[in-house]
Amino acid sequence: MRVPVSAGFDPDFDDAVWTLDWLRIPVRQVPVGDYEGGYRVVREFVEQIDVFGRPYQLDPPLDVRGLYDPAGVLWMSDTPQERMMMYNNAGRSQGHVLVGGAGLGLYPQYVADAASFTIIERSPIVLKLVGPMLQEVMTERGVQLRFLVGDVETYLARAEPGGYDTIFLDTWERLDAALLPSINRLRDLSLRHLAPGGRVLLWGYRWMVRLFEEACATLLSMPPEEREPWLAEQQPANPRAVALLTPIADAFRGRTIQRWELDEAVRYCREWVRQVTA
Ligand SMILES: C[S@@+](CC[C@H](N)C(=O)[O-])C[C@H]1O[C@@H](n2cnc3c(N)ncnc32)[C@H](O)[C@@H]1O
Repeated sequence: MRVPVSAGFDPDFDDAVWTLDWLRIPVRQVPVGDYEGGYRVVREFVEQIDVFGRPYQLDPPLDVRGLYDPAGVLWMSDTPQERMMMYNNAGRSQGHVLVGGAGLGLYPQYVADAASFTIIERSPIVLKLVGPMLQEVMTERGVQLRFLVGDVETYLARAEPGGYDTIFLDTWERLDAALLPSINRLRDLSLRHLAPGGRVLLWGYRWMVRLFEEACATLLSMPPEEREPWLAEQQPANPRAVALLTPIADAFRGRTIQRWELDEAVRYCREWVRQVTA
C-alpha cells in the first residue's frame, strides 16, 4: 500500500528531537497564582527531569510552571520536553499561523517568522490565563494575534477554506497511537485551509506512529495463532489500541513473519496508520 504524499504534511517530521536551542529564546510564562474556578498556576525550579525517556540535568535550575485544575490535577506544564517539541514545530512555522489550542502559550513565542496567529482554544479559562500574556508578547513583536473560543475541529470542518501558511495542532493530551485516526481526520480537514506551499504540523505525530510500529512489531513477531488471544488479552485495558491493531492482524492472518520480513511488515503498518481516519 502506498500513501499519497501530501505536499502540506510531512509524516516523517519528528518533533521529538533533542535540542537546546530553545534555551536561547526567552519565553514569557503564565503568572503564578490562583485563578477563577479554582485553577492554580504553580512554579517549580527543576534541576533534573526526563526528556524523551532520558534524564536531563539543568544548571541553573529551570522555572517550570504547572497549571492545576480545580481538583488539584496537573493539566499542563512547560517542561523542557514540551519546550523542545514546541521549539521544533516552531522552526517549521511561518507566515499566517492557525493554532489549536493555546495551552500555556509556548509555541507562538518560539515562532520567529510569523505574520499573524489565529488561536482556537476550547477553554475560556485557558484563554483568560494565557491571552493577556501572549497579547503583550505579540504586540511587542508587532505580530497580529486573534483568539477564538471554540472547538478547532468544528472550525476546520465548517470555516471557509482559509489561507494559512502554517497550521499547528496540539489539542490531544497524551501521545497515544490510538488517537491517530482522529488526528488524521484533523490533518485532512486542516489541509483544506492551507495557502499554497503551506504546512500542517501535528504535535508528536511521528512519536505516535512509532508507538504503533512497535505494537505492530510485537503483534507480527508472534506465531499467527497467538495473535488473536494476545489481542483479546489487551482488550479490557486498551480497547482502542486493539481496534487499531485488528486490521493489521487480519491483513497478516495465517502468515508467519520471519525476522528478515519484519521491517517490510512494519513499513506496511506505518503507511496504514498514516491513512486511517476515524
Ligand atoms: C497541550 S495544550 C497546548 C500547548 C500549546 N501548544 C503550548 O504551546 O503551550 C492543549 C490545549 O488545547 C486545548 N484544547 C483541547 N481540545 C481542544 C479542541 N477540541 N479545540 C480547541 N482547543 C482544544 C486545551 O484546552 C489546551 O489549552
